[in-house]
Amino acid sequence: MVTAEWLDIGPVDQLPVMGARTLPVQGGEEIAIFHTANGDVYALINKCPHRQGPLSQGIVHDTSVTCPLHNWSISLVTGEALGEDKGCVPVIPVKVEGGRIFISRKEALQGQR
Ligand code: FES
Repeated sequence: MVTAEWLDIGPVDQLPVMGARTLPVQGGEEIAIFHTANGDVYALINKCPHRQGPLSQGIVHDTSVTCPLHNWSISLVTGEALGEDKGCVPVIPVKVEGGRIFISRKEALQGQR
């Protein structure tokens, strides 16, 4: 059986600019997909490294998101907490092709139990 490496998760124009949406993973960790002001798309596990706040509900600015619970800034590029804070959330590789968003199957499913 051939398994696609990339999962098509829909058109990029349905993702609000400077916003996010979530993608449930059956048996795994929910993923947050972010769209930055300059049109880039990033994906992280939807759990702040501090106390698991829903990063998808945070505010996107440049290439980071501010957690809605205690205002940690998390890099969308590396998943690391910025500034004084320490912690890291897994990043899911993303690519945009033909106006559609694809995420790496391997990393997307890695949290599956
Ligand atoms: S849970 Fe995100 S800053 Fe505390």
